[in-house]
Amino acid sequence: MIDFMKEARTLFPYAQSMRRDFHVHPELGFHEVRTGGIVAKELEALGLEVTKGVGKTGVVGLLEGGKPGPVILLRFDMDALPINEETGAEYASQNPSIMHACGHDGHTAIGLTVAKILQNHRSELAGTLKFCFQPSEEGLNGEEMGGNEMMIRDGVLDGPKVDYALAMHVWNEKPVGWMGIGKGPVMAGAEQFEIKIIGKGGHAATPHLTIDPIIAAAQVVSALQSIASRNVAPLQSAVVSVTTIHSGTAFNIIPQEAELTGTIRTFDPAVRQIVLERFEQITRGVGESMGCKIESKVKRITPAVINNDDIAGKVQNTAQRILSDSELDTSSYVTMGAEDMAFMLEKVPGCFFFVGSNNHERHLDYGHHHPKFDFDEEALVRGTALMAAAAADLLK
Ligand code: NI
Repeated sequence: MIDFMKEARTLFPYAQSMRRDFHVHPELGFHEVRTGGIVAKELEALGLEVTKGVGKTGVVGLLEGGKPGPVILLRFDMDALPINEETGAEYASQNPSIMHACGHDGHTAIGLTVAKILQNHRSELAGTLKFCFQPSEEGLNGEEMGGNEMMIRDGVLDGPKVDYALAMHVWNEKPVGWMGIGKGPVMAGAEQFEIKIIGKGGHAATPHLTIDPIIAAAQVVSALQSIASRNVAPLQSAVVSVTTIHSGTAFNIIPQEAELTGTIRTFDPAVRQIVLERFEQITRGVGESMGCKIESKVKRITPAVINNDDIAGKVQNTAQRILSDSELDTSSYVTMGAEDMAFMLEKVPGCFFFVGSNNHERHLDYGHHHPKFDFDEEALVRGTALMAAAAADLLK
């Protein structure tokens, strides 16, 4: 029996040096040329069959086990964020206004370390591993789709056809040593909306001659709050947040237009449907009642991340076996955050798990996307061990 914790700990210096190198040289989504180049080089050195340019800057490495069996895709995202780093760490970003503030440097390092471990044990694996190093998880970056969708478009789930998928995220909301492996929905689906309210401008002293888009905007904002509180069942969840309002130019002018934007988050497709229907009815209804024209657009960013119960159950069993000293959360943890791995998990059964990574004593506890974000690198060991062990168990 392979001791995955021991092997991950032995390879910690490798994982750490890779992670720190990626951290010093972060790249934005679809610009992961240096990162992808290093990933390809490392995988080739291990003897994997490597394909570059899958989803623009994405890299795929194929590891054939010693016996036939299913194909498992392991996803690791590589992109950084447009943030100016303020950690003061010795391995801080050398690229101005670009920073690994979400931990994807850690994911890339974990992916390479998992490949090293499993390549050493390839004769014991019954099946194939597809190491998927994904670009641009954080957004579209000027492309028509994000990295996960683009890799799917470029055929990452075919040739050989993928049976299961695993992915993970280091997670600073929770301490290092905590591991979250849930069944069913674990991260929310996200939509982005835009509402344009077209009234009739005029002098602020003669409001009766105008159709005030600001009053209509205020009504829209208030009415939208009733969706989560009055249309969605209390034990289910949804978020409807208006996050920008723009209108007006001067204190004595009633403007012509107002524009609102915001986001909707849901887990359950049925709840999502209710929210979208009510959103449409409310914006249209306020427009009618206020005598103005309201145009609304809702764009889906990602579906919810939904774990397959069977695969998640197997990952939970693996975790219980190899991470006896960790705090395993197998039931309750969900987050309203979103993740584009949802697209792959819509197409193939799989499991997305969280690896606790904060450390209050060492002040490594800023949230994801904060300029001081950094995590306890012990999470590299636990993330590597669970990912490698879960993949190996699925290929038994
Ligand atoms: Ni992230």
